Amino acid sequence: MPERTPSRNLIGILISGRGSNLLAILDRIAAGYLDAQVALVISNEGRAAGLAAARARGVPTLVIDHRSSPTREEHDRKLADALEAAGVRLICLAGYMRLLSAWFVDRFKGRIINIHPSLLPSFPGTEAQRQAIEAGVRLSGCTVHFVDEQVDSGPIILQEAVPVLDDDTPESLAARILEAEHEIYGRAIALFFSGRLRIVGRRVVGAA
Ligand code: GRF
Repeated sequence: MPERTPSRNLIGILISGRGSNLLAILDRIAAGYLDAQVALVISNEGRAAGLAAARARGVPTLVIDHRSSPTREEHDRKLADALEAAGVRLICLAGYMRLLSAWFVDRFKGRIINIHPSLLPSFPGTEAQRQAIEAGVRLSGCTVHFVDEQVDSGPIILQEAVPVLDDDTPESLAARILEAEHEIYGRAIALFFSGRLRIVGRRVVGAA
């Protein structure tokens, strides 16, 4: 039997913690719904639970501790070297709790995406679910977007709305939003590799 041509849709995933989005992406690939391969997972935190989970599935991992670089850009240059050596086409931020330098964003322009647990541009930054409850909105959700130099900014690829219930706590809302995150991140990655997405100003064309 001829060998299957390896997928060139290589992804690098940056994490800092739990890694449930990372696992959802791996599941989607394993189930045959996403024609891609996670070539490398990098964490800035050696204790990130997502690292062990990735290793358990045979995915190469690397710890690049930000505390060992004097500046943000020097740290990001180490990330870039590792990601380029792994040949990734797309970089997915999945609970990566570091700001990226302008240098890094420029180097991988249009090839970095992030997932955020709110309907951006509402509630950027940390504790997005708490922000949504405190603002009294009836709908929150999650957003996958291209990354630019600002925090939780950049052209939006996909969003999914999730209702906010009367008795929601930040934790219960986060759990409900997370289910939607796991669904849309894989879909957004597939759209990226389909080659149909185009960034036109602040908008992404080709996703809907
Ligand atoms: C998710 O809620 C994601 O939207 C946000 O950080 C969280 C990461 O969760 N950026 P996990 O590490 O993927 O489980």
